[in-house]
Amino acid sequence: MKNQQTPRRFRSQDWFDNPDHIDMTALYLERFMNYGITAEELRSGRPIIGIAQSGSDISPCNRIHLELARRVRDGIRDAGGIPMEFPLHPIFENCRRPTAAIDRNLSYLGLVEILHGYPIDAVVLTTGCDKTTPAQIMAASTVDIPAIVLSGGPMLDGWMDGELVGSGAAIWKGRRQLSAGVIDNDKFLEIAAASAPSSGHCNTMGTASTMNAMAEALGMSLTGCSAIPAPYRERGQMAYETGRRIVAMAHEDLRPSAILTREAFLDAIVVNAAIGGSTNAQPHIMAMARHAGVELKSEDWMEYGYDVPLLLNMQPAGKYLGERFHRAGGVPAIMWELQQAGKLRSDRLTATGKTMVQNLEGRESHDREVVFRFDAPLRERAGFLVLKGNLFDFAIMKTSVISETFRERYLNTPGSEGIFECKAAVFDGSDDYHARINDPALGIDENTILVIRGAGPVGWPGSAEVVNMQPPDALLRRGITTLPTLGDGRQSGTSDSPSILNASPESAVGGGLAYLRDGDKVRIDLNTGRCDMLISDEELAKRKAEGIPEVPPSQTPWQEIYRSTVGQLETGACMELAVKYQGVAKVLPRH
Ligand code: FES
Ligand code: MG
Repeated sequence: MKNQQTPRRFRSQDWFDNPDHIDMTALYLERFMNYGITAEELRSGRPIIGIAQSGSDISPCNRIHLELARRVRDGIRDAGGIPMEFPLHPIFENCRRPTAAIDRNLSYLGLVEILHGYPIDAVVLTTGCDKTTPAQIMAASTVDIPAIVLSGGPMLDGWMDGELVGSGAAIWKGRRQLSAGVIDNDKFLEIAAASAPSSGHCNTMGTASTMNAMAEALGMSLTGCSAIPAPYRERGQMAYETGRRIVAMAHEDLRPSAILTREAFLDAIVVNAAIGGSTNAQPHIMAMARHAGVELKSEDWMEYGYDVPLLLNMQPAGKYLGERFHRAGGVPAIMWELQQAGKLRSDRLTATGKTMVQNLEGRESHDREVVFRFDAPLRERAGFLVLKGNLFDFAIMKTSVISETFRERYLNTPGSEGIFECKAAVFDGSDDYHARINDPALGIDENTILVIRGAGPVGWPGSAEVVNMQPPDALLRRGITTLPTLGDGRQSGTSDSPSILNASPESAVGGGLAYLRDGDKVRIDLNTGRCDMLISDEELAKRKAEGIPEVPPSQTPWQEIYRSTVGQLETGACMELAVKYQGVAKVLPRH
C-alpha cells in the first residue's frame, strides 16, 4: 500500500506522544477524547490531516464543502489518517463590504496560525470563491506541510429564455439593460437568479474558476479537479480521492515547496492566458509566488503569457459555461494542447506524486467547440498586456475579452493604429462615480476614458472590483455599451470591459493617478505599452504640491492593520511583513 512506506514521526506526535512532556501530552489528549477519539488513535503514529473548511452559511460559493468534507474524511480514514476539520475566516466575494479582497490576507493569517500552532501534519485546502484559493495556498507555503487543493466546483450552467446565463456576466449585462430601460427590476432579479442555479462557485471563467484552474495548473490538486461542477457525482468522488491522496502525501512528506516552483508559476501564467482567465489572477499568482519564495517578475506576464492564444470558449471571453468545460476535459485538456505546442515546463512534480507531463497523458479534448486546438485558436495573443507610464508603473489589460473592432483598431496587429487618445473623466471611488456619471457637465462621449482611483489596497481599503464602470445612461441608450476604463482597483473576472486596471502604485500612496483631473488628455500606446497623461511638467509639479485625494478612514481594526501592512497589486497586495516567513513548520512551536 502506497501510504505505508518508510514510517516517519509526524509533528503531531510531539503533542500526542511525547515522553519528555507527559504532563502536556495528557492535556493535549484529554479534550479530543470528549467527542470520542481515543488516545490510541492519536498515539498510533498516523498522520493528523486537517480539513481547512472554507464553507459556511455566509460563504455560499463554498458551502458545498460542508457536504464534501464527509467524503474527504472517508478518504482520509480509508487511507489510514485521522481527519480534523476546522473553520477558516470566510471570504464571500459578492457580499463582503467594503470588499472581499481585505479578507484574503486575514484568512491567510488565520490559516497560518492554525497549521503552525495545532497538531496538524498535512492539510486539505477547500477552495472555491475567488480569494479562498490564493489565501489557502499562500498559507500552505508559509507553513510548508503537505497540502492538497480540493475545489468545490462551479455551479451548474444557468439558463434564461433559452440562452446560457453565466454568473457575473449576466449581472453586468442586466444592469446595462436596466439602465437603458430594456428590462425592469423584477426581470433583472430573475436573470440574476437564473445565473446561479445550484450550489457551487461562479460558473463563468471568472476569478473563482480561474484561481481553481491555477491551483490545478500549479500542480496543487488531483488531475481534473477544478472544473467538476459542485453537484456532479465526480465532485464527491474527487473529494474522496483527495482525502486518500493527502495521507500518502503526508507519508511522502510531499510539501508545497517541492511543487510551487518558478516553472509551475510560469505554467500558471500560460494556462491563465489560454483559458481567458481573470485579471485577478495577476495579484493572486504574484502573492502565491512570493509566499512560496519564488521570484516572479511583472515582465513575466508579457514574456510568457501575452502571446499565448485563447483556447477555451467559455464566458466572459467566449460562449460556454462550467458544465460544458468539464465535459470537454477541463484544465487538463487545455494543458494538453499547451503541452503539445511546447508551451509548458511540465516535467515537474505535482500533488499526484507524478509529473505534470504524466498527469496530462491521454487528456486530449473531444469537444472542439469548447477547447480549441493550439494551431487554430479562438483568438491569438490572449494574455495580459502590461502597461506603464506617468500614471502608474504597472497596470494590466485583459485582451481576450476586448471586442474585435477594438482589437483590430488598437492592438498591435499589423496595420493597427495602436495609439489612442481620450479625455479623462475622473472619479474618487465608486460613490463619486455613481453621483456624477450621468452629469451632462462631464461631457462624456465615445472618446472618454472613465478613470477611478482610491480603489487600491490602501485606498479602498482592500482594492475593489470597480474598474469595469459602465458608460452614462445616455450613451447606453445610443447603443454605446462600453468605454475604455482605467483604475487603481481591480475588476470582476467575469467582466468584459476593455479596462486598464490593477494600476500600481495606487493614488492613495501618491501614484500618478492622484494628479489626473477631469478633461485631461490621456494617451495610450498599445504598441509600446505606455499610458500617459498629457500635462506639462510645471502643471504636474503644481498638482503634486496640492497633495493627493483623501480616502475614507478605517472603520475596523483589521482595516487599519491591513492598510499598514499591505503592498501594491503589482506585487500581489501581500502583507509585506509576512513574505519573509517560509516553511515555519520546520521549527515546532514551544509548549
Ligand atoms: Fe463567489 Fe463568484 S462570487 S465564486
Ligand atoms: Mg470577483
